[in-house]
Amino acid sequence: MRAMAMTDYERGISLHELPKPEPAPNELLVRVRASSVNRIDVLVAGGALKGMLGYEFPVVPGRDFAGTVDGVDSDVSRFRVGDEVFGWLNKPTLHDGAWAEYATVPEDGFVARKPDGLDFTEAAALPLAGVTALVAVDEVDPQAGDTVLVVGADGGVGSYAVQLAAGRGATVLATAKPGDEPRLRALGAAETIDYTQQDVADAVRERHRNGISALIDVVDEAEGFARLVELVREGGRAASSMQAVPADPLGGVAATNVVASADVSVMARLAELAAKGDVRPAIDVVLTLDETPAAIERFAAGKRGKIVISIAG
Ligand SMILES: NC(=O)c1ccc[n+]([C@@H]2O[C@H](COP(=O)([O-])OP(=O)(O)OC[C@H]3O[C@@H](n4cnc5c(N)ncnc54)[C@H](OP(=O)(O)O)[C@@H]3O)[C@@H](O)[C@H]2O)c1
Repeated sequence: MRAMAMTDYERGISLHELPKPEPAPNELLVRVRASSVNRIDVLVAGGALKGMLGYEFPVVPGRDFAGTVDGVDSDVSRFRVGDEVFGWLNKPTLHDGAWAEYATVPEDGFVARKPDGLDFTEAAALPLAGVTALVAVDEVDPQAGDTVLVVGADGGVGSYAVQLAAGRGATVLATAKPGDEPRLRALGAAETIDYTQQDVADAVRERHRNGISALIDVVDEAEGFARLVELVREGGRAASSMQAVPADPLGGVAATNVVASADVSVMARLAELAAKGDVRPAIDVVLTLDETPAAIERFAAGKRGKIVISIAG
């Protein structure tokens, strides 16, 4: 099969012909029709996670997948050959990812039937970022009348967090790159803050003198996060996808570190929300498998929403 793979830590990814993976007990073999680029894939492909995650060369990066079930282990009961599925791979080591024509996934992993209304490229834009956003929004539990600040709203997780928080009736304040305001308003943001021109905390303080109800931050590390938590009223909530929440309490705000891999059932909920149109794929561009190196460059240069990798049959 064709795969974008790395054979050492230094040289990055290139196109390789690799053996098709075999489904292990309880696994599906998926003919991958599309994947996407998440920050973790960029870090994997650059060798930056050496010593933190186990690289088993050749390493095929890529977490998200959308495709068709091409084979099943005899233990699999919930899926059949021909089913259209989407999800993300959460494997213990880095070896057989989704930037390839085939990938394997446990049937009790992050996999669900692809909603009929989405094509493969749309479905591949959702899984890891969508699950992370859904976990973050659940953590801050916004209600009608609440004001939620989403920091990193123009990226993958943020684009979905904006939609999900707005869908629950909250007034969403979204950080934005110049030119991204119309897109974020269409996703449900009531206000945007150009973080390249303004200090986000100062802008929020100016506009919301009584503070905000909640914070979802997918950008800042501990210090920046703590500074933004000061905007949240006593009794409010905050969530970080950057493990920025310290062990000690942050004043009267309930703050949580989001872990996308904590609960596989969130994938089925994401599929339901996508089927109802309550969360829509946020796509910057669709590139081909051969163009994955360019996709990584574009990711680093700054994109809006998700970069999708289409894998032709
Ligand atoms: N904890 C978990 O389980 C989990 C799961 C998924 C993701 N994550 C992490 O969560 C983070 C976000 O993921 P993602 O997929 O959404 O990444 P992403 O697509 O790169 O989104 C981050 C967005 O924030 C923007 N940004 C950069 N600096 C900013 C600033 N100072 N203020 C406001 N926005 C800023 C980025 O713009 P540019 O593109 O122009 O830089 C980008 O649009 C990543 O670090 C990822 O590793 C954690």
